[in-house]
Amino acid sequence: MNIAYLNGQYLPIEQAKISPLDRGFLFGDGVYEVVPSYEGKLVGFLPHLQRMNKGLEAIGISTGWSENQWLDLCLKLIQQNGAGNLGIYLQISRGTYDTRAHRFPDKVNPTIFAFCFEIPPAPVADKSLAKTYTVSTARDIRWDRRDIKSTSLLGNVLHYQQGVEQGNQETLLFNDRNELTEASSCNAFIVKNGSVITPPLDHQKLPGITRQILIDILRNDGNISVEERTVTMDEVAEADEVWITSSSREIAPVIAIDSVPVGDGQVGDVWLAAQTLFSANRFNY
Ligand code: PDD
Repeated sequence: MNIAYLNGQYLPIEQAKISPLDRGFLFGDGVYEVVPSYEGKLVGFLPHLQRMNKGLEAIGISTGWSENQWLDLCLKLIQQNGAGNLGIYLQISRGTYDTRAHRFPDKVNPTIFAFCFEIPPAPVADKSLAKTYTVSTARDIRWDRRDIKSTSLLGNVLHYQQGVEQGNQETLLFNDRNELTEASSCNAFIVKNGSVITPPLDHQKLPGITRQILIDILRNDGNISVEERTVTMDEVAEADEVWITSSSREIAPVIAIDSVPVGDGQVGDVWLAAQTLFSANRFNY
């Protein structure tokens, strides 16, 4: 049974009902998070919560919830859904109001919804077991505040589907200066001559927690150089390795872009080194 949380109640997800007048449904007026948990252990709970609170602040929603309340919610969901490998989904919308009007209602209680879904076991640092990706490319058509993890995901959904329709599992996105932003549901990295390079944080991309943890782990280790700087389309095409990162995938090697092999088309050595470090340190965050 899948036990969800909705506005103070834990209940089977089929019984969780939200009004069609909820602003999350009408306007995509809300934010969300996905926190990974392996065998009952959360990865990156605090940074996920910090990003969520920043997003809530940016769109003017206040839940009044403390860090402990959010942690308690995550732990209760794990407890009630069996401590396997779970993505814990948290969503806060501005709430349900009795009319559809764009302006923020004066008095409205946020809708707080959470549930769990199964994710693959934590990736292991083994080239032969790595889940590899092939991706498409596209001009990034999304809105200008991609740093907010908004539930308005139409642009992301359309971009993801572009990849699917071309037989791929993701789409790498480029701005109108042909600079890499991210992928439709992941951040993106390239490797060139042993250096790991990823575009800097700004409004064009989500500040991914996997990205943040990976950069921190690599810098603490000190054996692989990490650069946060603009990455051009040409650099992506000439990269030795390309990775996409997200909470449910960790570091995923991309082996072909628009049907052209990345490097030698195999999972790379720098990926192996990075995933080895990530696997050893994921529960320290
Ligand atoms: N996706 N960029 C975008 C657009 C994303 O949607 C995500 C995550 C990321 C990676 O962020 P993180 O490392 O914090 O998971 C980057 C989530 C998992 C999703 O929408 O399901």
